[in-house]
Amino acid sequence: MTSYKELGFVNTREMFKKAMAGKYAVPAYNFNNMEQIQAIITACLESQSPVILQVSSGARKYADQTLLKYMGQGAIEMMRTHAKEKGLKEIPIALHLDHGDTFELCKSCVESGFSSVMIDGSHHPYDKNVELTKQVVAYAHQHDVTVEGELGILAGIEDDVVAEKSSYTNPEEVVDFVQKTGVDSLAISIGTSHGANKFKPEQCTQNEDGVYIPPPLRFDILEEIEKQIPGFTIVLHGSSSVPVEAVKIINDNGGALKDSVGIPEEQIRTAAQSAVCKVNIDSDGRLWMTAAVRKHFNDKPADFDPRKYLGPARVALIEMYKHKNESVLGSAGQA
Ligand code: G3H
Ligand code: 13P
Ligand code: ZN
Repeated sequence: MTSYKELGFVNTREMFKKAMAGKYAVPAYNFNNMEQIQAIITACLESQSPVILQVSSGARKYADQTLLKYMGQGAIEMMRTHAKEKGLKEIPIALHLDHGDTFELCKSCVESGFSSVMIDGSHHPYDKNVELTKQVVAYAHQHDVTVEGELGILAGIEDDVVAEKSSYTNPEEVVDFVQKTGVDSLAISIGTSHGANKFKPEQCTQNEDGVYIPPPLRFDILEEIEKQIPGFTIVLHGSSSVPVEAVKIINDNGGALKDSVGIPEEQIRTAAQSAVCKVNIDSDGRLWMTAAVRKHFNDKPADFDPRKYLGPARVALIEMYKHKNESVLGSAGQA
């Protein structure tokens, strides 16, 4: 058993308390490799933002769970060294399991030093979701690890779970779910979804440049949830904006992304000022990384040193994370 406290992580309790009071959201960025974690730490330290490093079970399979644990530990040490060198304050960092689907997976993450876990029982019937979430909370809280649950089903793909039938969160169920399970935060479904195709073209209108404009998020449901359970921490998954600029660079350099559409940043900005204290972003990083790599290979087809093409990808990621912290989530300066 490795305690996250020994590694230097914090759980999300204090982070969310401050975010709720300050009307901003803490970024939750996924990582699978070294360049992503370097970019997240660099951007969040330089913009003085708290951050949640997210690991999905797909990431665990890809990068190896042991290596991931040491990457997380390395991120803390890198942050401390860079903070000293640059004369900056250290930032709080949580290590979080994204979309945990079993008790055993959550337990294994707690044991290996995660400070926060998500148990996503949203695809189960309500009572099974309650039972599973409660079991994870009981174990995690013994180790002062915070737990995120989910009610309502997002459209799109969550790891191996394909949510074909999305359903908005029912505000009537929220109080009961939170009371019965004891979760510290709740992911809700109000129209966001995972990936780069969040809406079908026929659900959108188009502006004069042909850019798809999606229907707005269901802020009425969010407001109703806030009324039901005032001051409780809400989480938004699937919050990438899928920038048309990144998609254009990808497609101009040999890519084939079709009908991509995300959540406009002004809507995430609005949500971040509400009870939404954690915003999950993964796809935007994937897109900017791919754009930089594709452009590099088009411009310099003879390059074969990974540092030559992953270096610019890392620079693009740093810019994007800083932009999210400073101009969308409001977390910059809140470390
Ligand atoms: O929720 C989905 C995240 O973007 C993680 O994606 O399961 O492909 O690692 P992944
Ligand atoms: P995006 O696919 O919109 O980046 O969402 C990521 C997410 O919710 C991770 O849990
Ligand atoms: Zn998610």
